[in-house]
Amino acid sequence: MKTLLSLCVGATLCILASCSEGPTKQMPYNQGINVIPTPVSLVQNEGSFKLSKNTAFSASTPEAKTVAEYFAAQMNLATGYQITVSDKAASNGITLAIDEALDVNNEGYTLDVTPKSVTVKAKTPQGLFYGMQTFMQLLPAEIESPAAVSGIAWTAPCVTVKDEPRFEYRGIMLDPCRHFIPVENVKKHLDVLALFKINRMHWHLTDDQGWRIEIKKYPKLTEVGSKRIDGEGTEYSGFYTQDQIKEIVKYAADRFITIVPEIELPGHELAAISAYPELSCKGEPTTPRIIWGVEDIVLCAGKEEPFEFLQDVFDEVAPLFPGEYIHIGGDECPKSSWKECPLCQKRIREEGLKADKNHSAEEKLQSYFVQRMEKYLSEKHGKKIIGWDEILEGGLAPSATVMSWRGEEGGIAAANMGHEAIMTPGSGGMYIDQFQGDPKIEPVSIGGYDPLSRVYAYNPTPDTLVATGKANLIKGVQTNLWSEYMYNTDLLEYRAYPRVLALAEIGWTPLTRKDYKDFERRLDNALVRLDELNI
Ligand code: ACM
Ligand code: ZN
Repeated sequence: MKTLLSLCVGATLCILASCSEGPTKQMPYNQGINVIPTPVSLVQNEGSFKLSKNTAFSASTPEAKTVAEYFAAQMNLATGYQITVSDKAASNGITLAIDEALDVNNEGYTLDVTPKSVTVKAKTPQGLFYGMQTFMQLLPAEIESPAAVSGIAWTAPCVTVKDEPRFEYRGIMLDPCRHFIPVENVKKHLDVLALFKINRMHWHLTDDQGWRIEIKKYPKLTEVGSKRIDGEGTEYSGFYTQDQIKEIVKYAADRFITIVPEIELPGHELAAISAYPELSCKGEPTTPRIIWGVEDIVLCAGKEEPFEFLQDVFDEVAPLFPGEYIHIGGDECPKSSWKECPLCQKRIREEGLKADKNHSAEEKLQSYFVQRMEKYLSEKHGKKIIGWDEILEGGLAPSATVMSWRGEEGGIAAANMGHEAIMTPGSGGMYIDQFQGDPKIEPVSIGGYDPLSRVYAYNPTPDTLVATGKANLIKGVQTNLWSEYMYNTDLLEYRAYPRVLALAEIGWTPLTRKDYKDFERRLDNALVRLDELNI
């Protein structure tokens, strides 16, 4: 993403700089303060700190040491130095200290950079991690390089920072169902999320077009359900083994990112039904869906088999993901097959599910379905559920968090009922599978138009909730990267960036500190960091 212009300007400045300051490059994108997301408070002081071959980390606890080692490793790659980590204070050192009395939230930190030292304090290792990410962004962007870069002055301006996130949930959603995302590319994505303090990856693991997670009790889910015949008549396939899932969950946790797995129910389940046709109302053989859009064949809510199936699936899924949430989907479940199914209608009668002026009996049946699964996940696995906003229809499960995607109405309704909500409205620019440039010259996408400025402008707390004092129930914000038109991972990156960086700032920075013009300026530096990560 480096432009020719910035390279030329950079080269000129470099020549100029070499007359007065020795052989160090002063690239224009490294000038000024370029931190994304903007901290709550940052004061620039006189002077700078210089990273040198004598720099060492000092870390007060084993967890702090792990954070220090993570950053020392990256600094050593980029600088060629051998920066070490110990529990002893060092001169010209970087100190990481846990301070439980610090006046910031659990993800917050303070950072003091002086000419002689760098000190990061936080209540938690996660806060130390974010303090260090801020420090990394004060250093030249080349600090993210995977190989030693020579001729760089590794200096950071002296600053005093006090910082904490605006929202607890700062997420992005990846969809490996429509087009698969290999393990290495998921990790690459996680690397970028970590740089910008994003802390959730919602992983949409099952859908009509492919089942992407190994379930040992149901091998046909991947033998049959992970394969579809694409337009050219060729087979399209891919899934994650449980070992690969564990590897990615660990990789994310090392970067303080929690993965929220999504297993769709009761709709978007054709891949599973293809493997086990008895799960649908009619039980007829079928194949994973080969076109996009919403499938009418869904799990039967009258039979017991789909409930037993999902319980077994969750018995394998829950232990793989240590986070507190499992996403149960719940969106776009057509009710046509339930209307005609004698067993679904029997369930409606037996459970006394009656249509009212707001909801059909079948919508109540979906609510019955979701509530049963919520109870199971809570009692058996101690997990809470998140669902798309359709889970409001027919009655919300008692402790569910609502993910508001069809506008903000679902999130507002949930908060008004005392439930937590995560905002991800397509109408608010959070569907970053949409075009971010001129559709006439962009690679094909699902449609829509969400340029960076529009994504950046989104505010997850609607005025109505602020007015009623319910805005605290908005737990956070997420962008969704559906993959119907992401035929390969280059296209995925092309759509994701730099819009994911706007999401980072929405999720972290106080509203009063957001500034799009300044964000655009800081982006010059951030794009070089993305270059270093081979985005
Ligand atoms: C969705 O976009 N169907 C949640
Ligand atoms: Zn049925």
